[in-house]
Parts: sequence; structure tokens; C-alpha cells
Amino acid sequence: MKSNRVRRRGWWLASLLLIVLVAAACAPDATQLIISPQLGEQLAAREAGNIVVAAVPTEAPRLADLTAEEIVAGLPDDVAAALAVADPANGAQISLARGCVGCHALDPNMVMTGPTWYHMGDTAVSRVRGESPALYLYHSIVEPNRYVVPNYPNNIMPANYGEQLSVQELADIIAYLLEQHETGGG
Ligand code: HEC
Repeated sequence: MKSNRVRRRGWWLASLLLIVLVAAACAPDATQLIISPQLGEQLAAREAGNIVVAAVPTEAPRLADLTAEEIVAGLPDDVAAALAVADPANGAQISLARGCVGCHALDPNMVMTGPTWYHMGDTAVSRVRGESPALYLYHSIVEPNRYVVPNYPNNIMPANYGEQLSVQELADIIAYLLEQHETGGG
């Protein structure tokens, strides 16, 4: 009789222990990270000793984020038509022949008189609010003083390319510069 009671108590204690263990395993831990798409950033911020912030800074839009229409929006009709059949390789040739490359380099680390053409297509997306990248490039070639790139001098880039080059030649250069983006040529 006595041994039966002891055994029953043993079972009861074992069950209680089990319940306590399960409850402990399930209890939410305040220091635990919530599994979310930002987990990597949270971990990195925590490792760096920073406060974990929920807001992720928005990156500048790139050419690849735009539709074909958005890329050419606002271009004069003749330039848009020429761009539709443009030859970027010829644009590269013209920029050599016309001396553009004397002031502009594709290499981002080369110090030149003019800004680099590295990722020019992406840069052109957000240079001037309301101007599509193709329109911005068109303006910067035919009217260089319309918008002057910060930290660069005005009145240095020749302002008469619009007279010297045909519409097709201008479009070829624009096509070449648009090719210089992160998922494009360079
Ligand atoms: C004598 C030097 C010089 C030559 C030659 C020159 N540029 Fe420039 N270019 C500049 C300078 C300086 C700027 C920056 C100031 C400004 O915005 O006008 C600039 C700006 C630009 C920009 C805007 C770049 C940006 O980051 O927003 C484009 C595009 C451009 N040039 C294209 C051309 C093309 C195409 C040619 C040849 C047909 C050319 N440039 C010839 C000096 C030059």
C-alpha cells in the first residue's frame, strides 16, 4: 500500500516538472530578436552596439527601376525618335572624336575637369527633379549651364554641342551614357 502511494507521488512530481519545463521553453524572452526580413540588419546593428531602428533609409532610384517610357519622358519628339534607333557604340566614338573624354572618364577614381561617367545612367535619374534621365542628359549636353553639377565649374563645358552635332549624334551619345548604369555596361 505504502509503496503505491510513493509511486503515485513520484508520477505527480515528474508531471509537474515537465509542465514547468515546457512553460519555461515557451515563455517569450524580451531580449530575443523577432524573426523578420530586417533580422540581418537588426543583428548587425546590435553587434555594432547601435540602437535597432525600424526605418530603413530609401536608396536613390536607379535606371533599372524605371520603365522605358519613364526613361525618355519629356524629350523633344525628334530626339525621342532618334533615341529609339540610336547606336550607343557610335555614341562612344563621337565622345572620343569630340573630346568629351578629355573632361569625362568612365573610371570613378580618375580626377578630371568634368564629372565621371561611371553609372551616369543611374546618376541621371535623380539629378534634376521632374526630368527623366534621357531629358537630363540631353539638357546637360546642349545646355551645360542649365544645371551645374555640384563642386564642378560652370562655363567650362562647351555650350555649342547642340549646334555642332546632329540630333542623331546627340541621341547616340545619350544612348551610350544611359548604358552606363549598375546593371548595364558600367
Ligand atoms: C572642357 C571640358 C568638358 C568637355 C570637353 C565636355 N564636358 Fe561635359 N561637363 C564638363 C563639366 C565641368 C561638367 C560639370 C558642370 C556642369 O554641369 O556644367 C560637365 C557635365 C556634363 C554632364 C553632366 C554630368 C553629371 O554628372 O550630371 C554630361 C552628361 C556631360 N557633361 C556630357 C558631355 C558630353 C557628351 C561631352 C562631349 C560631347 C562633354 N560633356 C564635353 C566639362 C566638359
